[in-house]
Amino acid sequence: MFTCFPYVIAPALTHCLESDVPAFLEANGRPKTLAHVQAVAEVCGQIAMQYGLDGSKCRAAGLLHDISAVIRPADMLHYITLLGLPVCEAEARYNFLLHQRMSRFAAAKHFGITDIAVLSAIECHTTLHANATPYDMALFIADKLAWDQPGTPPYDKVVRYALERSLEAACLAYMEDTMSSGRMLCPHTNWTLAVDWLKQKS
Ligand SMILES: [Fe+2]
Ligand SMILES: [Fe+2]
Repeated sequence: MFTCFPYVIAPALTHCLESDVPAFLEANGRPKTLAHVQAVAEVCGQIAMQYGLDGSKCRAAGLLHDISAVIRPADMLHYITLLGLPVCEAEARYNFLLHQRMSRFAAAKHFGITDIAVLSAIECHTTLHANATPYDMALFIADKLAWDQPGTPPYDKVVRYALERSLEAACLAYMEDTMSSGRMLCPHTNWTLAVDWLKQKS
């Protein structure tokens, strides 16, 4: 798929994500993204142990979730539109929200990932969605705890506390904190549906 984006460098694959992802992100000048995805893979692996999930799936999802950061947001919109796929209001206003969907395409089409649990988690790691799987929720939480900004996230304590109860509680704790703190840019359709679903479950 990266042939559609001539400015993206795609080194030859070894088919080992632990080396292919660093090689790809370094070739495209994204050391901060690399540090972030490696931290997310680590946290997602810890959540896997806590909740009896497959650690290798969680690490793969962590490593690949932001792989499309090398694509310009306007080009993401162009790509999704050319495929004839729907774009919600939030994605139309903030094109970078499409990176979760673009990362799924890249994981499948470029890195050859076929595991639906991994692909689904990547596709909803920013917004979550209703009927989320444990893998969806594990990556969603890991991405927020190992955020890509300096220092500790403002919601760190509340999410870690909720994570002791359940994956659902941790997701809802983060989402409610985000909505009440004014950090929400524009509610994505899947985010709104996920909040309703999580509230019904708790
Ligand atoms: Fe992301
Ligand atoms: Fe991320």
